[in-house]
Amino acid sequence: MRPPLRQLSPTAGARILGLGSRQPEQIVTNADIAARGVDTNDEWIRARVGIVERRFAGNDQSVVDMAVDAGSKALADAGLAPGEIDAVLVATCTMPSYIPNAAAQTADRIGVRAAPAFDINAACAGFCYGLGTASDMIRAGSARHVLVIGSEKLSDWVDPMDRSTCIIFADGAGAAVVGPADHDERPGIGPIAAGSAGDLVETIVVADRNSFIRQEGQEVYRWAITQIAPVALRALELAGVSPADVDVLVPHQANLRIVEAIAKRMRAAGAREDMVVADDIVHSGNTSSASIPLALDHMRAEGRVRSGDLALLVGFGAGLSYAGQAVVLP
Ligand code: UT7
Repeated sequence: MRPPLRQLSPTAGARILGLGSRQPEQIVTNADIAARGVDTNDEWIRARVGIVERRFAGNDQSVVDMAVDAGSKALADAGLAPGEIDAVLVATCTMPSYIPNAAAQTADRIGVRAAPAFDINAACAGFCYGLGTASDMIRAGSARHVLVIGSEKLSDWVDPMDRSTCIIFADGAGAAVVGPADHDERPGIGPIAAGSAGDLVETIVVADRNSFIRQEGQEVYRWAITQIAPVALRALELAGVSPADVDVLVPHQANLRIVEAIAKRMRAAGAREDMVVADDIVHSGNTSSASIPLALDHMRAEGRVRSGDLALLVGFGAGLSYAGQAVVLP
């Protein structure tokens, strides 16, 4: 008789061991966008989206370049060498072409040799899907340390004269190293709450390789302010914690008004008034899959969050796809 297929030894759970991020040098203000002839102004953008400035990468800086920098910093922060990484996942929806993927190049340039490396395209929810996948790989025993990166160069895919998109989207990368929770420690990444609304697929589209992003902003806005807080609450329920336990809320940085609407719903459900709410969009813009790890890394550098804090992450965007989880910060 055929023997049963052997399974790897599972671990109790995973946690984030280190964070890193990379933003391009070039700062683009609202006035800069208006100055190139776009029919918009600083007052409207601040009031309706909350963005003051964003970063754009130049021709000499790619999705992979930013991923390499953010990933290397996360490795250093975790105190791990590239040889200790078993898999590299890059969440991105803005590679210049479908082949090759970003992850294999990123792994090679960081010095992670022959590791499994694949891209995840769940648009602005990509980083949370990556974190969930990494956690599952570690729990199942198929990897010990996984590098998860969100990296985007949205400026390549935005019509520079389309005022409904060119004011929002920006470039950058953020990364996390995920590893096993120590034996005496509770897992630091809760189960993923995820899903999709494919019936709304037409609301954010890049029609083909020669097209720019087109977005039905109002429809996505209404969906986000009504449908995403319940996903965040579900993530807490799955992790066995309550809204009052949350120290920091990190929604995808799509629009400050969406972030505030989600925070309001969380507080109505019991979250504390002193819960820190990520507002990285103000100076970074909407960087899709990079926005959550970028916000985390910036808030930590600013001293707004501490090691051991409980953070609630929730990503959402094109697809439409969404995902969130509760995590303990490194
Ligand atoms: O990250 C992926 C997921 N994406 C999102 O979550 C984006 C969700 N949507 C949004 O964030 C918002 O819908 C936008 C920021 C895209 C647009 O803001 P809005 O408050 O929904 O504006 P609107 O499209 O309803 O337009 C309101 C008015 C219109 O003028 P009238 O018709 O009232 O005279 C627009 O023509 O504002 C005008 N407008 C602008 N004015 C100055 C639209 N864009 C601009 C602009 N500057 N950039």
